Amino acid sequence: MVALAVLLAAAVLVSGTVPLHKSQLEAWFHQKVKPCTERKGIIDHALLIAELNKRVIKVMKDGSGDCKTISDAIKMIPAGNTKRVIVHIGPGVYDEQVRIEKTKPFVTLFGLPSSMPNLTYSGGATVVVESEYFMASNIIFSNTPLESSGNKIDWKSNDLKSKGEDASSQAQKNSSPKSSGNKIDWKRNDLKSKGEDASWHAQKNSSSKPSEKKSKGAHAQTQAQTETQKQTQTQTQAQTQTQTQIQKQTQTQTQTETQAQAQTQTQALKISGDKAAFYSCKFMGIRDTLHDEQGRHLFKDCTIQGALDFIYGSAKSLYLNSKVHVLADNGLTSIVAPDRSSKSKDTGFVFVHCDVTGTNSETYLGRAGSTHPQAIYAYSNIGVINPAGWFNKLHPHQGAGTNTEFLEYMNQGPGAKTSKSDKFSKSLSASEAQSFISLSYIQASTWLLPAP
Ligand SMILES: *[C@@H]1O[C@H](CO)[C@@H](O)[C@H](O)[C@H]1NC(C)=O
Ligand SMILES: *[C@@H]1O[C@H](CO)[C@@H](O)[C@H](O)[C@H]1NC(C)=O
Repeated sequence: MVALAVLLAAAVLVSGTVPLHKSQLEAWFHQKVKPCTERKGIIDHALLIAELNKRVIKVMKDGSGDCKTISDAIKMIPAGNTKRVIVHIGPGVYDEQVRIEKTKPFVTLFGLPSSMPNLTYSGGATVVVESEYFMASNIIFSNTPLESSGNKIDWKSNDLKSKGEDASSQAQKNSSPKSSGNKIDWKRNDLKSKGEDASWHAQKNSSSKPSEKKSKGAHAQTQAQTETQKQTQTQTQAQTQTQTQIQKQTQTQTQTETQAQAQTQTQALKISGDKAAFYSCKFMGIRDTLHDEQGRHLFKDCTIQGALDFIYGSAKSLYLNSKVHVLADNGLTSIVAPDRSSKSKDTGFVFVHCDVTGTNSETYLGRAGSTHPQAIYAYSNIGVINPAGWFNKLHPHQGAGTNTEFLEYMNQGPGAKTSKSDKFSKSLSASEAQSFISLSYIQASTWLLPAP
């Protein structure tokens, strides 16, 4: 009888398709995502044990808590932690970089809705979560550009330069895009470095200098062989010196790139831990705000703000009733940059009952972060965006929609599919949409808990 009830409960939860009407969302969610004590036998055992053994660490800036910084609170959690640790954070601005290591699962960052703590940092991700079963509630994750990049927001000129893994970082060695006033330059840069072919060319081109020098050296060496041994030695020394110079040049180039990346990225959160939930949180940055790197995640009632690729990575995430706000008023901007390297990889971003807001009519809903990106907007209100909708970035050789899965289902607003002329996206049928607009997209039944 108990077993049957458990099975029924599991079946109900797994078939948790998001209701069409937003007004039903809250009731539906509470019915589907019950406290763990009502889900024994379904929920991961280690999670159940952790939830039954809670511990609270209080962070207060005025010294009235267990510690004054969040990093100190995380230090108080032992490696191999088995309890739910609620880090209760008092009001204020916390200017620090917080890392929650892989060895510390079951951590919750908790703030009060009336005085949400503001976690902020520059020159690196503000909060890095590597561990499983992380939760956050009423937290502001904020990141600001480094002081050294001036007070001016400089993401425009640097754009694609700092994406180390994509073709443009190779291409930029050549094309070195510069800011042209208020205009955003990454389109030009993208067009220059079309596709992996271009990347290959650029790479070849950027390495052509050293190999040129090497072959000159080799040629000189051949000449030297016909001459005295002494001369050969001199040539070899000269060659070694040239190689050292090239090495130094390359090192300097790499350093400059790393610095550019640190200055232009404003990562509020980077999460690679599996099975994480965010409730009523804000993610404030400009470029690469939310690095949804890896794992299954829920974002509910959140705000994510930025201008370029501000939700990106290879996670498998469901964004529910969240606000996606585009900052820049003009110029080319893009919201999601899903990164999936092959169709067999089980990753993607799904936005259901979300609001896309902003005033920039050049904003793309998303662009490819790699060859097989997957992103879906469903039941969402899509405001002002670029009539082209989506962009395939550096992979035009794939053709329209060949490997890109930019999908839409029953959206509203001026930016919805019906009013767009793009060739990369596809409207889903009701049956196709089911597996995406569901809690089972992130296998929620085994781990997702209600907001603390
Ligand atoms: C958080 O703090 C940073 C740094 O002081 C600030 O720039 C930002 O506006 C704050 N965010 C909010 C939402 O208060
Ligand atoms: C390679 O560099 C040269 C200048 O060194 C430039 O003229 C050429 O356009 C570049 N090729 C590519 C494919 O970027």
